[in-house]
Amino acid sequence: MNKERNLIIAGNWKMNKTVATALALVNDLTLALAHVTDVDLVVCPPFTALSEVAKALGGSNIRLGAQDMSEHNTGAYTGEIAAEMLKELSVRFVILGHSERRQYHQEPDALVSRKTRVAHAASLQPIICVGETLSQREAGHMEQVLETQVRGSLTGLHKSQMVETIIAYEPVWAIGTGQTASTEQAQEAHAFIRGLLVKLFDEATARRVRIQYGGSVRPSNARELLSQPDVDGALVGGASLDAQSFTEIVKNAI
Ligand code: PGA
Repeated sequence: MNKERNLIIAGNWKMNKTVATALALVNDLTLALAHVTDVDLVVCPPFTALSEVAKALGGSNIRLGAQDMSEHNTGAYTGEIAAEMLKELSVRFVILGHSERRQYHQEPDALVSRKTRVAHAASLQPIICVGETLSQREAGHMEQVLETQVRGSLTGLHKSQMVETIIAYEPVWAIGTGQTASTEQAQEAHAFIRGLLVKLFDEATARRVRIQYGGSVRPSNARELLSQPDVDGALVGGASLDAQSFTEIVKNAI
């Protein structure tokens, strides 16, 4: 696919895979995707599998991401994981503000923005998730919700950090439901987010930021979604847990 920005396709494994099953998946992926050069590939296993998956990825073309991170660098924060700990394991990306973190852990935009700045300070590339719920969409509030989340999550970022930040548009109603946004709905939301980036930064910066779509991405809908001008990749949940379906999604993007 000939795109303005390099596509980035990331697998968010969520709370799935033991070390053993993570290694089996990653071994299949490194073989199946070894020839892919013009799409950036990322897998985000649970914390417990990061170390072994990092070794298995070795010098492959697949990069490592984490699913969340603490806003603190060290100290008495039971259960939390710091940026430096991720860096030590060769992690390059970190998902922040996923709707499941926002919903089940009450993570507000201000926290996402603090984590985003901590990630950049550690040279980790944040993947910031935003997206409206079904009731917000039906009430006609999609743009307002996206604007609040984008502005709130990006507070204090410099242009040079913004271009190293990835945004994932993930309509909550499409996550894990099998219900995908239509290509028109995805393009409309992505273009709206890029327009916000123009307002918050400038045109040149906004044109360089990659905006992924997430929410029931499957081999059958990946090509159409990724062919939209402002859709620069995918954040894949369920379909990233199986080597064949993740591979097919990537192949449909080439
Ligand atoms: P899904 O999840 O592909 O299973 O809908 C996407 C996500 O939550 O990132």
